[in-house]
Order: sequence, then C-alpha cells, then structure tokens
Amino acid sequence: MGAILCGNAALRNRWHAVARSNEVGGAPIRRTLLGEHVVLWRDGQHRVSALPDRCSHREAKLSLGAVKDGCIECPYHGWQFAADGTCTHVPSATPGVPVPPKAHLAAHRATEKFGLVWVCLGEPAAPLPDVAQDSDPSFRRINTDLEVWRTSATRMADNFLDITHFPFVHVGTFGRGQETTVPKVELGPLDGGFYGYAYEVFANNEDAGTVASGQSGGVVHRRMTSGFSLPFLCRSTIEYDTGLAHVLLLVSTPIDDVTSYFSFVVWRNDDFSVPADEVIVFDRAIGAEDKRMLETLDGVLPLDQTSLVSVQADKCSVEWRRQLAALVNG
Ligand code: FES
Ligand SMILES: [Fe+2]
Repeated sequence: MGAILCGNAALRNRWHAVARSNEVGGAPIRRTLLGEHVVLWRDGQHRVSALPDRCSHREAKLSLGAVKDGCIECPYHGWQFAADGTCTHVPSATPGVPVPPKAHLAAHRATEKFGLVWVCLGEPAAPLPDVAQDSDPSFRRINTDLEVWRTSATRMADNFLDITHFPFVHVGTFGRGQETTVPKVELGPLDGGFYGYAYEVFANNEDAGTVASGQSGGVVHRRMTSGFSLPFLCRSTIEYDTGLAHVLLLVSTPIDDVTSYFSFVVWRNDDFSVPADEVIVFDRAIGAEDKRMLETLDGVLPLDQTSLVSVQADKCSVEWRRQLAALVNG
C-alpha cells in the first residue's frame, strides 16, 4: 500500500500535536509530521515558531543550529531565519547585495493548546476542539511527555474508540473481570466539538485504579463518554458516583504512515492532594497495554468499509473511520 497519510492535503490542513509546550524553549528541536521534518523554537516574543528543518542554502538541519535574537541560525554557514521564514542574514553575502528571494523558507503555522504545541503544515481547515475543563479552576490539567509508537495513528484512534478490547488487552489494569458485551452505542455530537456516545460501565478497581477513581472497593461504577475529533483526537470522560470527573484526551500524531507520537492529557476535579504523577499511573499503564498490542499490527488501518469485519459494538470506531476516509479522500 502506498502512503495514505503522508502528503495527504486534508491532513496537512489540520492541526497535529508535535511537542509539549515545555519542551520548546531557547534551543531548537526537530519533529517529524506526516513525513516532513520541522524545527521548533521560541522567537523573541516567546511564541512557538515552526519552519521546515532544512536550510535553503545546503539543506543543513536548522534544528542543529542555535537561536540568535529570536531567529534560528543554521549550523553550517550561519544563515539566519526569522519565525516567518524570512532569511534575515547571510554572513558571506557581499555587503549591500540583498538576500536571494529563494533563500526565504515557507513557515508552518504553530499554536499552543492543552499544554501541547500543534503544527499545521498547510492552511488550518478546522479549529482544535475545546475541552471546557481546561478553563475550569476546579479542574487541574496533567500533561505527559510525547512517546513514539511504532504503529499508525489510524490504528491508535481506532483503538482508543474501541471498548471491546478492554477485557482482553487491559487485563493488567481495569479490564479484568469486565463484561465482554457492551451496551447499545447511540452516536451523536458531544460537547466541545467531539462526536461519539455515552455509556455506563462497572470497572475493575484495584491497585492504581483506586487512585484514579478516588474510591476503594473491587468494582466501581463509571458514567462515560467516548468520542473523537478528526482526524485523530479521542476523548474519554469518566464520572464516578462521588462527583469525581476525569477527562482523558488521547493524542495521536502521524510521524509517517506507520509511526506516531502519542501523548495524553488528563483533567481532574479532585482535591489536588494526590501528586499528578500518581494520578496518571493508571492511565500510563493502560496506554502501555494498548501500545503493546498496536505495535504487533502491520501497516495503516484499511479505511474502506469492506476489507475489515465489524460488529455493532465497533460502531463508534467504524463511524470515525468513515469520517476519516471522507476527509482523507476529499
Ligand atoms: S546550509 Fe545553512 S547556511 Fe549553509
Ligand atoms: Fe485500550
């Protein structure tokens, strides 16, 4: 199968998370999005800037250079580029001779939201969704570092919308002893621009799970929603009978067709007494279980509706795949 994500115009026109905000500082860093190398740094106004990580002079990696007065300086011959891609300085140029017009680079769009840096390689066709809890002072936000998963972002989003793997993949965490049948899935718009469904479950509640749920006892009742925002963002909301709410944003970014960045963001309205790292131990363990399974699957998830068999319980991921295929195939 040829590349179906890399180079796709519709995906280039969407925002993708490529770094945590706190990773981008004075020193440039290199990321890869949809097969394209990007250099990130902060300019003089502390804004995140993104340029192709390829100098227009001899293709050196700008990410190996340095930030000088808010511009990035190439490590090879010292050409400098501003955040908007303008080549501002060519040390070897004859005085008075202007910079060649083709020296300028086409800047990428970069923005920050939810503690993450998002890049759009083209023209943003849709805004990022909202998470109301992000501006609610009764909630705290917990970010995690980006990981590289050797699997396609298509398989990740499909997995994050799929609840029927819980009793099999998540036996080490919350899936143990869980019902294998799932309630009827009624799809529709959710808040914040997400699309999905609401359901209720009784989940296993032992060990790290008791920290996540804030309750003891072997089994805990959860009211949940599961939804997506194209192309690859998935969100789960969990409400316990105590009023404790836990929002989980699962972020998948195609590095290329079969390699991806993964990060998750948690919002919680607990009393903030349990350290953030402890709160997310359970989510981390769940993510590791998904990663182990997904890295055994080959290639990109087929996006047509005929090459895979699905059942009623797969309705949400099937709908996500239908919408993604419509987006990708234009
Ligand atoms: S390759 Fe960048 S300045 Fe020469
Ligand atoms: Fe999972």
